[in-house]
Amino acid sequence: MRIVVLISGRGSNLQAILAAQLDAEIVAVISNKTDASGLKIAQTAGIATAVLAHTDFASRAEFDVAMMRLIDSYQPDLVVLAGYMRILTDDFVHHYHGRLLNIHPSLLPSYAGLNTHQRALDDGVKAHGCTVHFVTPTLDHGPIIIQAVVPVLPSDDVASLSARVLQMEHQIYPTAIRWWLAKRIVLNTNNRVNLLNNTGSEQTVFYTGS
Ligand code: GAR
Repeated sequence: MRIVVLISGRGSNLQAILAAQLDAEIVAVISNKTDASGLKIAQTAGIATAVLAHTDFASRAEFDVAMMRLIDSYQPDLVVLAGYMRILTDDFVHHYHGRLLNIHPSLLPSYAGLNTHQRALDDGVKAHGCTVHFVTPTLDHGPIIIQAVVPVLPSDDVASLSARVLQMEHQIYPTAIRWWLAKRIVLNTNNRVNLLNNTGSEQTVFYTGS
């Protein structure tokens, strides 16, 4: 299986995916930002990189068409968004239906969008976390594959809370991709994710960190 990873920045999730040594080839890492430090992680790992700057395009639609062409030139089976901070056009999302994953730093459907950790702190929630989901046209609302929960401590600020969540991101993203590669993820009639175990029957998805 061939995977293309899209990033916009640091690339710590990319690094975790690489470290997981999945049964797949990361054929390219593409960034919409020239200065994304995650590009160096890819280059160090000997992976092809490309930059397509959204600022070079007049519209979101034109950029996404060019991005689809670039992605497809690597013939991926799966496209993984790992800190790719762009809102996607419906055409882009439909083009990769069922093979486009995203990680989001909150327990969706809470805190879709930006500044998730600050918003969780502002609300005084006691549990926060992260979600891997299929991408659909509604931002951060696709079928949920796996979530991990962390406590919110009285002493937390954005830095400490985001670091705790990020540790879990680095565990659940490789896990979700591994399940996808093994064809263990099925969507039921309500468009919810069920996970097949190795006998082909369905099991509950709840990540406990073990
Ligand atoms: C991660 O926390 C990821 O969940 C978030 O950006 C960060 C990227 O970090 N993604 C989003 O907010 C997408 N809406 P990384 O570049 O170190 O993987």
